[in-house]
Amino acid sequence: MSKRNQIQAPKGVSEYVPPQSRKFESVREALLAPARNAGYELIELPVFEDTELFTRGVGESTDVVSKEMYTFEDRGGRSITLRPEGTAGVMRAVIEHGLDRGQLPAKLYYSGAFFRAERPQAGRYRQFYQVGIEAIGIQDSALDAEVIAIANAGFKAIGLKRYRLEITSLGDAQSRAKHRIDLVSYIEKLELDEVTRSRAEINPLRLFDDKREEVKKQMNKAPLLLDYLSEDSRKDFESVQKHLKALNVEFVINPRMVRGLDYYTGTTFEFVHELLGAQSGIGGGGRYDGLMSELGGQELSGIGFGLGIDRCVLAADAEGISFDQEFTSDLFIIPLGDESKIAALTIAQELRNSGLRVEISFGDRALKGSMKAADKSGAAYVIVLGESEIASGAVELKEMSTGKTTSVTLTSLQKHLQSVSSK
Ligand code: HAM
Repeated sequence: MSKRNQIQAPKGVSEYVPPQSRKFESVREALLAPARNAGYELIELPVFEDTELFTRGVGESTDVVSKEMYTFEDRGGRSITLRPEGTAGVMRAVIEHGLDRGQLPAKLYYSGAFFRAERPQAGRYRQFYQVGIEAIGIQDSALDAEVIAIANAGFKAIGLKRYRLEITSLGDAQSRAKHRIDLVSYIEKLELDEVTRSRAEINPLRLFDDKREEVKKQMNKAPLLLDYLSEDSRKDFESVQKHLKALNVEFVINPRMVRGLDYYTGTTFEFVHELLGAQSGIGGGGRYDGLMSELGGQELSGIGFGLGIDRCVLAADAEGISFDQEFTSDLFIIPLGDESKIAALTIAQELRNSGLRVEISFGDRALKGSMKAADKSGAAYVIVLGESEIASGAVELKEMSTGKTTSVTLTSLQKHLQSVSSK
């Protein structure tokens, strides 16, 4: 029979198999822990949503919506999109489940896969992973600072050092309206192609984010929003900075920062890693005043962030951070014969219930092969379980690192392993 050809993963997706997946898990947990410690609760949402959620929520001037969405018609003829980001979905769910009518701020965290049809390269994938939080319903600069500090604590927990935090403020509606008038008349005088011009009409701030040299040069002297902040917005931004300083979170102000999503207002921020080249954003976020009402809810503000797990794994590698890569069991059981397998399974189950990590040798390998497997597994101890051991109720517990054996009764195995594994 001819061999069937192999199927490969779709282009541009990130995936993690052991041992790399251990690193992924460590990074994700490090990023999540500070959010949990600050009282954020899990929100688990569908990876696909009504397309309109993103066109309305994220904004049609963005690359994310105009070029990068995985949109398709489902079997019922509805337009569905694989979530390119998490905030719009969280807001949809908050409104739908009335979380905005409860204790505020609603504090939610999530982690999972997101999808953007981008040109794949190192650190830029079509399916990627984020940890995110959203705090919805309270406007308070202390909260803004806390959200930023939570992200920072996650990066620190991974052990990252070579990154910087950039912040800016997009101000309130009044500040943006005033700035927009001057920015639009500045842009009118520039030499731009039609596509760029029509994007700028939806959101003129987009032009600050244009990567083309000829556009960058023309934007050099463009009026900056930070210079147009209203008295309230300026005070608010100063207060965020004061709180960050009190928390010892270092930052630089980047008045030209443009986030890739249109819902931002007020405080916005990005964490940029120094060793990641073109895809250096390891996380970002900000406040969004109009999102809830845009999606049919009340006029409530929120703030949150999304942190890129994939890029944090790359950043950790680039900084030479080693994780606890050991995945080792406490005990490896080698059963000899079918009867012993039943005993091995029950013993393993009991020991696992008490929190020990136990593996069993499966298949009908000879003892030598099983010992090799035990060795490879990196297990701390091994026992051979044959008829005589079951009959006597005692086994030889072999410490793999020294080769030393101790005779232990099956009933005291748990106590014994617990005392040595806690050392
Ligand atoms: P974002 O800046 O679009 O924000 O994405 C957050 C992070 O996700 C980025 O800093 C980056 O680390 C990672 N990321 C984005 N796209 C890719 C990709 N194609 N491949 C690998 N990593 C990627 C948001 O998504 C907002 N929802 C964050 C937020 C929450 N703002 C307020 N609340």
